[in-house]
Amino acid sequence: METMPFGPLTVRFDARVLRPRPWTLAQSRWAAELLPRGPLGPVLELCAGVGHIGLALAANSDRDLVLVDADRHACDHARSNAEEAGLAARVTVRHGPMQEMLAPTERFAMVLADPPWVPSTEVSRFPADPRGAIDGGPDGLDLARLCVAVIARHLADGGASVLQLGDATQAEEMRRYLRAHPELDLRVVTVRTVPGGAGVLLHLSRERETSGPS
Ligand SMILES: C[S@@+](CC[C@H](N)C(=O)[O-])C[C@H]1O[C@@H](n2cnc3c(N)ncnc32)[C@H](O)[C@@H]1O
Repeated sequence: METMPFGPLTVRFDARVLRPRPWTLAQSRWAAELLPRGPLGPVLELCAGVGHIGLALAANSDRDLVLVDADRHACDHARSNAEEAGLAARVTVRHGPMQEMLAPTERFAMVLADPPWVPSTEVSRFPADPRGAIDGGPDGLDLARLCVAVIARHLADGGASVLQLGDATQAEEMRRYLRAHPELDLRVVTVRTVPGGAGVLLHLSRERETSGPS
């Protein structure tokens, strides 16, 4: 078992799960900016791993937090990390596939999502990472498309989501996908690249689009 500082937290993890990436604190911070502009209500994190991104947000807010991950070891660490942060009373960890872990009536003011986004053909470049944590299918977006389906069902009116993807090309593909699926009623509002970061962050909401190529 190892530990690592992550914003206000000390997070624990081990070799069976993805090693927390320091740049992803930008995802917690962006969500913390957006959260007060939306409705009251809890926060959801899909593909939460050991929970640090959502927990860093929860540590700076008074919202309840639901963490969902398909990996049992990640969920065990997430529970420990919530306890260690003094947040256990406000945090629920649910172990299982994201599309089965939420009741139909549940709504969230903010949804964080960090799906695997490495294209299957490139997974071998990251031998230290568990395949289930990084393999996003042929174009890297299989799990991201699952995430946006879950976000579409469970985002509260006026809520926002911050989705992590691999690069600007994937972000543009997600913009096209959401335009092609108006039934999801979700749009890419803004895309941020993080200096020194290995991925990109997308702010999604039900707002009209304000920027980005057509
Ligand atoms: C890129 S990792 C992100 C983990 C963590 N948020 C982080 O930044 O280290 C993706 C996570 O998605 C989880 N995952 C993969 N498929 C899933 C599914 N169908 N439902 C829920 N979680 C899933 C994996 O177990 C893994 O923990």
